[in-house]
Amino acid sequence: MERVITLNGQAGSSLIIIDGSVGRLSTHLKDTSPFVITDENVERFHRRRFPPAEDIFVLKAGERTKSLKTVERIYRRLLDGKADRSSFILGIGGGVVCDLTGFAASTFLRGLDFGFVPTTLLAQVDAAIGGKNGVNLHGYKNMVGVINQPRFVLCDLSLLETLPQKELLCGLSEVIKSAAIASVEFFEFLEANWEGALERKREVLGEIVYEAALIKTSIVQDDEKERNERKKLNFGHTFAHAFEKTCGMPHGEAVSLGMILSVHLSQKKGLIPASEAMRIRELLRRFRLPVRFKFGRKAVLSAIRKDKKRKKGMIDFVLLKSLGEAMIQRVSFEELEELVDDLC
Ligand SMILES: NC(=O)c1ccc[n+]([C@@H]2O[C@H](COP(=O)([O-])OP(=O)(O)OC[C@H]3O[C@@H](n4cnc5c(N)ncnc54)[C@H](O)[C@@H]3O)[C@@H](O)[C@H]2O)c1
Repeated sequence: MERVITLNGQAGSSLIIIDGSVGRLSTHLKDTSPFVITDENVERFHRRRFPPAEDIFVLKAGERTKSLKTVERIYRRLLDGKADRSSFILGIGGGVVCDLTGFAASTFLRGLDFGFVPTTLLAQVDAAIGGKNGVNLHGYKNMVGVINQPRFVLCDLSLLETLPQKELLCGLSEVIKSAAIASVEFFEFLEANWEGALERKREVLGEIVYEAALIKTSIVQDDEKERNERKKLNFGHTFAHAFEKTCGMPHGEAVSLGMILSVHLSQKKGLIPASEAMRIRELLRRFRLPVRFKFGRKAVLSAIRKDKKRKKGMIDFVLLKSLGEAMIQRVSFEELEELVDDLC
């Protein structure tokens, strides 16, 4: 059943269509023939479902493509295709395609309209929503970007059928994050439906995408520019980026371990009760995400120090007061070192 959420931000409004159909894209494109940006895997599986387009630009899949060099290639392609101020740019793909599309569209000719058809679970519940668009720079993630809302985000659950299981798990890790920081009820739904989620039962995935999108939308509306509330979405991510970089782990697994660390610190500080901390560990385990560390503390700590969010030896860290309630606290590197010592 199609459900629509409206995100009203300072940087524009977005219609987020959950359980919509790619076949009905024309309703949202309003007679414009878009410039489509996608990647090679999405093109291979879903090309026949793309709408009629001015041009289809197929990028190499993967995080390395998320660079200024690719943005320049997109500009060149738009120039060659004679894109003008009335052109519409449509990103069909995972988070990499959405981040690139939003950035290129927001900057070409000082800003063209754009929309997303996210094709990974992670993009449907997270990357495509909230208006952050950007690219990596010299190995640092998302260093260059803009906040600008897409006109629409159309989530078609059938696109997820071709998604490799490891990519599904990446998305589920973000889903658990959303529930842990914002909704006990959603967390309970995940506890009751983890098998259905892993089996990609449509009604379960529909509920998951809707609830996670609702949480992200409401947080972004309160704090689009990430002054305070939006930082809560970084739960599990401060360490996750370090794990990805130093240990080459997939993002979802790294977020899982990042959440384990944050939950441990929350418990140490007398915040979240042990029983609730245990439920988070158990749910991650059920979703086949890692809950134990197998790599060296030195590498992890040095990567953390380079985190772009660090401020004068302190780092903004998302902790849990309880299941479904997050808070931000400035934590010193000494505390973090102790934490890594406890768990690594
Ligand atoms: N803008 C934001 O707010 C935000 C939030 C979270 C993450 N992100 C960004 O999102 C990116 C990660 O997104 P992702 O996990 O979607 O990665 P991704 O875009 O690299 O996609 C993962 C893989 O799945 C493939 N794929 C995509 N859809 C498919 C489908 N339907 N069937 C088969 N294969 C498919 C892709 O080709 C790729 O190989 C990162 O760059 C991250 O920084 C952005």
